[in-house]
Amino acid sequence: MKITFIGGGNMAGAIIGGLLRDGFDGGAVSVVEPLETARAQLSKHAGVTAVAGLAELGAIGDVVVLAVKPQQMRGALQPLGARLQNQVVLSIAAGLRVTDLARWLGGYARIVRCMPNTPALIGAGITAACAPAGLAAEQRAGVERILKAIGKVVWVDDEAQLDAVTAISGSGPAYVFYFMEAIRDAACALGLAPATAAELTLETVLGAARLAAASSEDVAILRERVTSKGGTTEAALKSMHANGVKESIMRAVNAANDRSRALGIELGAEPGKY
Ligand SMILES: NC(=O)c1ccc[n+]([C@@H]2O[C@H](COP(=O)([O-])OP(=O)(O)OC[C@H]3O[C@@H](n4cnc5c(N)ncnc54)[C@H](OP(=O)(O)O)[C@@H]3O)[C@@H](O)[C@H]2O)c1
Repeated sequence: MKITFIGGGNMAGAIIGGLLRDGFDGGAVSVVEPLETARAQLSKHAGVTAVAGLAELGAIGDVVVLAVKPQQMRGALQPLGARLQNQVVLSIAAGLRVTDLARWLGGYARIVRCMPNTPALIGAGITAACAPAGLAAEQRAGVERILKAIGKVVWVDDEAQLDAVTAISGSGPAYVFYFMEAIRDAACALGLAPATAAELTLETVLGAARLAAASSEDVAILRERVTSKGGTTEAALKSMHANGVKESIMRAVNAANDRSRALGIELGAEPGKY
C-alpha cells in the first residue's frame, strides 16, 4: 500500500511517525505540503517524499489522506479530483461531510470520513471512521492500518453519527482537562502546593482511567466501589448530584453535537450560499 498525504502538519506528522514506528516503509509515503519548514521536518523520516504541490508528485498513493484544515480543503482538493482512479480518499478533517468533499473532488465518492482526537498526537487517540457502502475489504483494512498508527479505531455505519463522535471523543479531551482544572484548583484552595495539586490530579485521572480500562466492570460499579456509606466520596458525590453535574455534562455534550452538525453545513457551503 502506498499513501499520499495532502497536508503535512501535526496530524499527518503523527500518523506518519506512528506508521514508521509500526514498521511501515517510509518509501511508500508521500506528502504534499506547501510549507517548507514542515517539508523539511517530514523529510527527516527515512524514505518519505515531501513535495510542495500535487503537480510535483509522479504517482499518487492507493490511499490519499486529506490532512489539511477544513477551511483549506476546497482549495486543496481542486487539483486532486482529476488524478483519482481507484484510490480511497481518507478525510481526517473535522466537520466536513462526504457529499461536500465528493463535490469538491468532481464527483469522486470513494471517501472514508473519520474523526480522530488530540491524543492521536502521542499515539493514544481514538478514531471513529465511516466507510462508503461497498468499500473493498482490503481498502477498509488499509485505512484501518493507517488509523491504528495513532491509536484505536471504531467504525460507525452512518456518517451522521460522526457528530456524536465529535461531541464525545473529539471534544472529550477538553472536558477531561476542564475537570482536571477544577480538581487541581480545589486542591490548591485546600492549601496543597500547586505542584502537589497538579501531580495528585494528573495521577488520579491517569490511574482511574487505567483501572477502568483494566476492569471488566462498568464505570458506575467502579464508582460505587469507592463510595462507602457516610464517607468522603459519598459527601462529594451527593454534592455533585444536588448540583446537577451529570445533567450539566450531558447538556454540554448535546451542545457540542448540535455545533458539529451546524459546522458541517457551514464548512460545506459554497461561498455566498450560506
Ligand atoms: N490536531 C488534532 O488533534 C485533530 C483532531 C481531529 C481532527 N483533526 C483534523 O486534522 C486536520 C489536520 O489538522 P492539523 O492539526 O494537522 O493541521 P495543521 O497542522 O495546520 O496541518 C495542515 C497542513 O496542511 C497544509 N496545507 C494547506 N493548504 C494545503 C494544500 N492546498 N495542499 C497541501 N497542504 C496544504 C498547511 O500548510 P499552511 O500551514 O501553510 O497552511 C499545514 O501545514 C484538520 O482538518 C483537523 O480538523 C485534527
